[in-house]
Amino acid sequence: MMNRTLLVTGGAGYIGSHTLLALIAAGYRPVVLDNYSNSVPEVLRRVQQLSGVPIEFVEGDIRDGKLLDGLFQRKAQDGSPVECVVHFAALKAVGESVANPLAYYDNNVGGTTTLLSAMDRAQVRHLVFSSSATVYGEPIELPYSEQHRIAPTNPYGWTKAMVEQVLKDWAATGEARRAVALRYFNPIGAHASGVLGEAPQGTPNNLFPFITQVAVGKREKLMVFGDDYDTVDGTGVRDYLHVEDLADGHVRAVQYAGQAAEPFSAINLGTGRGTSVLQLVRAFEQASGKTIACTMQPRRPGDIASAWADPALAYRLLGWKAERSIEQMCADGWRWQSQNPDGYGG
Ligand code: NAD
Ligand code: UFG
Repeated sequence: MMNRTLLVTGGAGYIGSHTLLALIAAGYRPVVLDNYSNSVPEVLRRVQQLSGVPIEFVEGDIRDGKLLDGLFQRKAQDGSPVECVVHFAALKAVGESVANPLAYYDNNVGGTTTLLSAMDRAQVRHLVFSSSATVYGEPIELPYSEQHRIAPTNPYGWTKAMVEQVLKDWAATGEARRAVALRYFNPIGAHASGVLGEAPQGTPNNLFPFITQVAVGKREKLMVFGDDYDTVDGTGVRDYLHVEDLADGHVRAVQYAGQAAEPFSAINLGTGRGTSVLQLVRAFEQASGKTIACTMQPRRPGDIASAWADPALAYRLLGWKAERSIEQMCADGWRWQSQNPDGYGG
């Protein structure tokens, strides 16, 4: 009989919280482990409110092997051993990773090896990992396929590339280990209810939350980093995908981990379509009825002109493709931001 208990590390975060809802809807029972280093308890209260089921939560750190042992043992003794780990917990700010690389290697790489060791002790053999398109670095060819060379340009990106290598080597040691690394492109938007969304602490590093904060009056204007790229209008092009599509991709990946032929797979999750900064701003203005004041700025160091996915492998292996449009991403993102101007604190 299929056991459906999952450990979700970083489940109180932006992508993790949306994925919890998708997993619960698919019949899984997630246990969340989070240290609240970049999230707040209110998130899980809202996930429970939306799903109508209580969520088992452990406050703690993935680098705490004893805590992980206790958690896995308790679930096994309860008769609901963990079948698969969905591993979101990580630090994710590129600039911060340049300033403080050891914090990133410790949390993201060290945290993952600690987690895998505890999984080995508990005989938990499947893991789905949050990787990133950032592992590809400067594109040699677009769209990026999974065969594109790996060449990250900052410590954060290197932690993702290193963890992928660790997972590949770990899974190759037999005993039916399976690891699936999902290389996300640019997740944006929010749950269609407006109850869950992205709530960055301080000034947003990423484009979409910056736009929504301008729209709600928290920031004066958007700084557009570069209008001289070789793109449709000179601004940077990215493959934005709805966070609910991304959440569905994780449900498919958990299912796939249970039957994958290959011990390790790396799979792009994106739409396959590129959108420029100004195109996203226009789409958001349409969806929100707000005007987004913009000011042109020099390029942001380390940025590339364009990035978008070849999503064919995700369809072939997972039966997944992104369904939601840019318009929907903007409408849902605006619903969240306008109903929660101060994020989870408001
Ligand atoms: P997030 O910061 O909202 O979520 C991460 C969660 O992990 C937070 O709740 C944080 O408190 C928790 N956490 C961090 N370190 C921990 C530790 N040592 N122990 C326990 N909990 C810990 O980030 P997100 O946007 O939801 O991203 C989730 C994952 O996806 C991350 O691994 C991130 O690197 C990856 N990713 C994100 C994006 C993106 O654009 N958001 C793109 C590609 C990949
Ligand atoms: N941008 C602006 N103004 C802003 C923020 C961003 O013009 O205030 C532009 C960027 O220059 C880029 C585009 O908007 O052209 C998207 O930028 P994001 O920061 O939203 O996304 P990135 O693609 O740069 O970053 C994403 C993930 C990172 C990951 C990185 C590397 O958020 O975690 O991809 O590919 F490391």
